[in-house]
Amino acid sequence: MMSDFPSWVSTHQSRFEDVLKRLLPQADVTPQRLHAAMRYSVLDGGKRVRPLLAYAAGELSGAPIERVGIAAAAVELIHAYSLVHDDMPCMDDDVLRRGKPTCHVEYDEATALLVGDALQSLAFQLLSEHPLSGDAAKQLQMVKLLAVASGSRGMAGGQAIDLASVGKQLTLPELEQMHIHKTGALIRAAILLGAHCGDLEQSQLDKLDRYGKCIGLAFQVVDDVLDSEADTATLGKTAGKDADNDKPTYVTLLGVQSAKKMAAELQQEAMDNLVEFGDRAQRLRELADFIVMRKY
Ligand code: IPE
Ligand code: IPE
Ligand code: MG
Ligand code: MG
Ligand code: MG
Repeated sequence: MMSDFPSWVSTHQSRFEDVLKRLLPQADVTPQRLHAAMRYSVLDGGKRVRPLLAYAAGELSGAPIERVGIAAAAVELIHAYSLVHDDMPCMDDDVLRRGKPTCHVEYDEATALLVGDALQSLAFQLLSEHPLSGDAAKQLQMVKLLAVASGSRGMAGGQAIDLASVGKQLTLPELEQMHIHKTGALIRAAILLGAHCGDLEQSQLDKLDRYGKCIGLAFQVVDDVLDSEADTATLGKTAGKDADNDKPTYVTLLGVQSAKKMAAELQQEAMDNLVEFGDRAQRLRELADFIVMRKY
């Protein structure tokens, strides 16, 4: 019997929190302030959507859960670094993240810069020092997968497009490209890395990748909607920030109703790619629902 989704989520979230606590340098190790700031930025907060997607894809592919935990941690560290930098004054200039002062506010800008640098390095250290596959060539592919998803052809590239788009009206395809890169790339990587810790046929990996592409885009469409509709207390980050910063979003381009409709269509398209997995993809279906229905 499968456990219900909320208990699966909380079990995996708390397991993952322990993984992160163990893998991050302790705050009493030199340089203490940097290590404290890294732990501050990664622990105690966040929905852990990417790790949950990795665990679900790992279960689907019969992967050992310890391996998936390492892969999930690598993705979450990149994600946390992207948030620390995203909040800096030179980017979105935000003071609140995960219900706490942002890293550069709690510490200082130089520390926030270094936290991002160090989290990114740690992510790749983890992928290279822990056994994730019996096949060394496959593990090297996994390192490359996260590198591409994080870099100028992935998340960092999407962030560059985001900054270059301030005050501009983008077309729908342009906005889609921005979102697929800045947010979609890491979500896709989380799913594929989880799956690579186990064993699937290439055609099945392709299906998961298409699921990931749809749900990754849907994730940012919903983020845009929440930025315009939800309140700061619920979000744990400043509401209305996109409008303040004059960012083109799915809400400015389509309006809230059509943006929501689009998220629902992407959710359906994501689900269509899971059909052949039957019950084994139940967690991925539940996560797709969670991503589109979430309130924060
Ligand atoms: C926020 O991501 C930034 C985006 C990519 C939209 P999340 O909504 O996953 O943030 P946390 O990790 O739960 O704080
Ligand atoms: C952030 O997009 C995407 C990344 C951090 C890569 P946003 O700027 O919309 O994220 P929030 O709303 O600040 O979390
Ligand atoms: Mg941003
Ligand atoms: Mg932001
Ligand atoms: Mg946002």
